[in-house]
Amino acid sequence: MRSGMSRSSRSVASPHVVNIADLRELAFQRTPPAVFDYLDGGAEGEVTLRENCRVFEDVTFRPRHAVAFADCNLRTRVLGFDLALPFLLAPVGYSRMMHPDGEAGAARAAGNAGTAYILSTISGHKLEDVKAASTGPVFYQLYLMGGRGAAESTLERARLAGFAALVVTIDTAVSGIRERDYRNGMKELVSGGVFDKIPFLPHILSHPRWLIRFLLDGGLPALPNVVIPGKGPMKLIDVAAALAESTVTWSDLMWIRKVWGGPIVVKGVLTAEDARRAVDEGAAAIVVSNHGGRQLDCVPSSLRVLPQIVKAINGQTEILMDGGIRRGSDIIKALCLGARAVLCGRAYAYGLAAAGEAGVNRAIEILRADLDRTMRLLGCASIAELDRSYVEVPSNWNAK
Ligand SMILES: Cc1cc2nc3c(=O)[nH]c(=O)nc-3n(C[C@H](O)[C@H](O)[C@H](O)COP(=O)(O)O)c2cc1C
Repeated sequence: MRSGMSRSSRSVASPHVVNIADLRELAFQRTPPAVFDYLDGGAEGEVTLRENCRVFEDVTFRPRHAVAFADCNLRTRVLGFDLALPFLLAPVGYSRMMHPDGEAGAARAAGNAGTAYILSTISGHKLEDVKAASTGPVFYQLYLMGGRGAAESTLERARLAGFAALVVTIDTAVSGIRERDYRNGMKELVSGGVFDKIPFLPHILSHPRWLIRFLLDGGLPALPNVVIPGKGPMKLIDVAAALAESTVTWSDLMWIRKVWGGPIVVKGVLTAEDARRAVDEGAAAIVVSNHGGRQLDCVPSSLRVLPQIVKAINGQTEILMDGGIRRGSDIIKALCLGARAVLCGRAYAYGLAAAGEAGVNRAIEILRADLDRTMRLLGCASIAELDRSYVEVPSNWNAK
């Protein structure tokens, strides 16, 4: 190797770490297969997971050349918050398993970069600690795990802690089957007894640095933000069953709106019908999303359905999207097609798994530099000026 350094000992600041794929490679080197595959994998045949990334190749740019400008404005507004960047960090469950910095480290990195962080219900850190770690806006993502009783006290805590919006995920009627997790014994490792874990331990032991950090951090805690009335924080052994019973229906959404009282973002919209329903139910924003290809496989990529949804909603609510964002140019394509901002999931979580908060900082910096360069090459000085005229889409995309 030219640098004379093994790939796994490289720092995320190394000049060899050029893009998000390089961070993914470092995450692969530094975490056991069960952890990496949990982060990297998708549902069933991973058709949607692959398509989420591939589809960006179908959209090409129409640059304006011979245009010069001193500053490039990457700012946008989401739910009234002025963000320095047109991307937010998506909710990623079990982040603390990837690295002890976990959700608090990711939130701090987002705040330092001037953008928002969305905390998953499946967090290893207390929501109050995550909020305190960030100088930027923090939103709370809700699963109805543990029923309305547990949710009510969490929403009260989130409001008191200063969470600015509630993101309600609607695409998890049951958990998608992520086949890599089954093969790696994820269930046994997270919630099984000692004997259940034994067949899967060699892979974990092959990553002693990760293991030592994980053990020093106390292993995975019970979920501190899902407190079952009269019982306390939800134990990991109960998470899978609780998720299976945590479907959010439209009538739940009405109840959630009343209890929360603040802005609600509906995440997991893939059709114009659901988008219109979310607007009717009072959503302040929607996220066009297929959960990063982790739920129902063979649904379309988020980018592919974004234009139809933008057309159907016609400015009635803010539209965000996620799925497959790995480069700044991907973000710009989504904005040209009508998204106000995007959410990044794996792009920053690879950084977290590779090097904790420093890795998240690096992921954000890579995307920020990508955005700035792409805007200049495109001849567009401001995110607010991006529109359909800067991209070409395949002709059949305009059919609906
Ligand atoms: C490891 C992992 C865990 C996730 N956990 C949650 C979660 O707890 N709640 C949720 O609404 N979405 C969750 N998501 C979905 C993300 O919020 C987001 O929709 C998705 O990652 C976007 O796709 P991308 O990873 O290609 O950017 C998770 C995604 C990943 C990769």
